[in-house]
Amino acid sequence: MDAEALENEATSAIERASTVEELDELRVRYLGRRSPLKLALREVRDRESGIALNAARTAIEAAVAARVALLEGTALDRRLAEEVVDVTLPGEGTSRGRLHLITQIRREIEDIFLGLGYRVVDGREVETAHYNFDALNMPSWHPVRSPHHSLFLNRDVLLRTETSPAQIHVMEAEQPPVYIISPGRVYRRETPDPRRSSIFHQVEGLAVDRGITLADLKGTLLYVMRALFGEDREMRFRTHFFPFTEPSVEPDVSCFLCGGAGCRLCKYSGWIEIAGSGLVDPNVLEFVGYDPEEFSGFAFGMGIERVAMVRHGVPDIRLFWDNDLRFLGQF
Ligand code: DAH
Repeated sequence: MDAEALENEATSAIERASTVEELDELRVRYLGRRSPLKLALREVRDRESGIALNAARTAIEAAVAARVALLEGTALDRRLAEEVVDVTLPGEGTSRGRLHLITQIRREIEDIFLGLGYRVVDGREVETAHYNFDALNMPSWHPVRSPHHSLFLNRDVLLRTETSPAQIHVMEAEQPPVYIISPGRVYRRETPDPRRSSIFHQVEGLAVDRGITLADLKGTLLYVMRALFGEDREMRFRTHFFPFTEPSVEPDVSCFLCGGAGCRLCKYSGWIEIAGSGLVDPNVLEFVGYDPEEFSGFAFGMGIERVAMVRHGVPDIRLFWDNDLRFLGQF
């Protein structure tokens, strides 16, 4: 075999290879286990032709290595050119989400009560008439028991009209002392207007212990209203009626916009109506098996949308449910 002729043929073919694949084929052809060169090397008997054949092999290997480096370099250059990324193009901004105003205020109220040692408990959005009405001392003739006012799923089951039934579940499950709040959605059959929505949020509160009086209710609500609306707030309590409290009072908070002088927000009264409350009716305590001679309690319920509306001057309760980001993004 003519080692020099083979070397010339191989190296010039290798230098003409234009792809890595083509080069790979040439490498197999000239250096592979069954290539003429390898076969010849295996047959070698004399020193002379051994040196010549090995020199040819080294030269071909070097040519392959050089060509590989070159082809891989150009392949990389081509990819870099094709897949260029223009880092100067403007990016697509993603806007940041945030909590719904109602969630923000619910959490704020929860924090205030947690600080007072209350627990936050869940209620049920689907209730029986028993828990929503009977156990809360509501007489069978009460108008909210009508399907014209409440959303019934069947004769005995309805979407709760208030968070108050949570009081009953808690008192049935545990003995006093009880200090809880229970926030959540409530449902009423309403024609939506700026002040009424058929779905909204309340926070229920209940404290039952030995020796609880109206003064405890007043002190607690004053503390909470000052935390929510500012340290300068004052409160007043108007007598009212709720079937599940006796006496019942409606707490008003002094208007934080005008300081009580009278403005559009407080309808020129100086006061803003904020909740319903009272001392738990002894009938309700008896109903859950508490002894009204031993224990007394106060309860309250306030609307979260109401807090949000007066605090931020939101004119229409439906805005909370429209999911318009131009509105929600303001809080
Ligand atoms: N459940 C009443 C309502 O929805 C609010 C309320 C008033 C809750 C007095 C109470 C309470 O716990 O004691 O209008």
